[in-house]
Amino acid sequence: MKLAILLTTVSGCLAIYDPSSYTDRPCGNDITNLWLDVVAVIDNSFGMGSAGVLSVASNLDTIFSQGMSIGIDSNNPKTTRLGLVTYNQEAKINADLNAFHSTDDLDTGIFNDLGNLSSSRDSYLIYGLQTAGDLLRNQSFGTSRDHYRKVVIVYTSMFKGSGQWDPIPTAQSLKDDGIFIITVAIVQDDDDSQFMKDLALIASPGFNFSNVANGGDVTCMVLGALMQANCYCPNDYEQYRELFEDKSSAPYGSCLHPINVSTSWKASQLNCRNRKAYLATEFTQNKHDFIVESVSSTTGFHPPLSYHIGLNQVLGKWVWDQPQGLPQIPLQSYSDWNPMFPIQSSSMNGVENFQNGQMTGWQNIDQLKVSTNYICESYACDTDNYCDANGNI
Ligand SMILES: *[C@@H]1O[C@H](CO)[C@@H](O)[C@H](O)[C@H]1NC(C)=O
Ligand SMILES: *[C@@H]1O[C@H](CO)[C@@H](O)[C@H](O)[C@H]1NC(C)=O
Ligand SMILES: *[C@@H]1O[C@H](CO)[C@@H](O)[C@H](O)[C@H]1NC(C)=O
Ligand SMILES: *[C@@H]1O[C@H](CO)[C@@H](O)[C@H](O)[C@H]1NC(C)=O
Repeated sequence: MKLAILLTTVSGCLAIYDPSSYTDRPCGNDITNLWLDVVAVIDNSFGMGSAGVLSVASNLDTIFSQGMSIGIDSNNPKTTRLGLVTYNQEAKINADLNAFHSTDDLDTGIFNDLGNLSSSRDSYLIYGLQTAGDLLRNQSFGTSRDHYRKVVIVYTSMFKGSGQWDPIPTAQSLKDDGIFIITVAIVQDDDDSQFMKDLALIASPGFNFSNVANGGDVTCMVLGALMQANCYCPNDYEQYRELFEDKSSAPYGSCLHPINVSTSWKASQLNCRNRKAYLATEFTQNKHDFIVESVSSTTGFHPPLSYHIGLNQVLGKWVWDQPQGLPQIPLQSYSDWNPMFPIQSSSMNGVENFQNGQMTGWQNIDQLKVSTNYICESYACDTDNYCDANGNI
């Protein structure tokens, strides 16, 4: 039997975004500003072993001691609550979402609550998931933290339960309610591949981890998943992601809002600014294609597609619109001009995408005279940007 070692440091798993870099904004990753409601669901059945349960306690303690504010703070909305549920043949709430008010509380609580291994050899994940769901329904949904993203982290060394004890439908109903599920498989046998496959069905896509895969750096992987869960777009914004057709593909910290009101380029830019947004950038072919696909399914956008984007000419240089107060970014490598464009003209300083047969590409236009739909872009709600219950940053 391998000893489950989950203790790691977090150095090197968090990168910093530079707004002037020619890349789309990743999700905010300032772990000290995480704002989530999290329930950790921990298998403490006999098979976990004392060392296994202790390593889970250490791992949770490491993850939640990275400087985030724990509990509720009337002066700071960016706080995280952690509840603890243990399970074996039944589930128990060791700490509800209001139990921990500080990192010190949590530090003491985790080791007290996870100190005892159960003598039960049964491990019914379904009970752990049901209890976590009830806890979130009682203490998070429908409260002043209703708009906070909700996460369940499961730590287990086995997958048990079929028929009425099958945890998969319960996991699905939590995910249908918008709850993210992270799973951490504590692998103790040499070949636990079936166990890991089963557990992947419980997790949200890409949120299934283990203490042996990818170097076993569980702390880093869970922190990354928490920050991704904390990254979303309000209301009718579409979150930019790697693949339009795959909603679970890697998200960016950027939100797109196609607007079907025919407007000049200049007025479009001002309207985006009034929404704390800017006209969309297209640094890459991927982003360009994503926007084409997104507007193709938006009411009020018809072929031939046409819509303003953030490219504009200032003092003879093409630059991309940015959030108010940040410098515009010069056009670099990728470009997508339609044939014969850009037209050299001192008055054609705005850019729209215009569909020409199968292709949609850039055309420069007069910023005041050509009216069409437009695409606003804004930073996502995430660890850098708190959004209130109405979705306002
Ligand atoms: C752990 O076991 C000890 C001794 O049996 C008991 O006093 C304590 O309350 C238990 N802790 C938990 C969290 O169940
Ligand atoms: C949820 O609230 C109900 C009603 O107050 C209570 O019976 C139940 O035990 C609570 N469950 C959890 C998991 O908090
Ligand atoms: C997570 O799930 C995916 C898809 O089922 C699988 O390919 C991958 O190996 C799993 N990773 C772990 C660590 O279990
Ligand atoms: C614009 O979009 C809104 C909301 O999606 C829709 O109700 C409206 O009918 C659209 N307008 C046009 C001109 O298609």
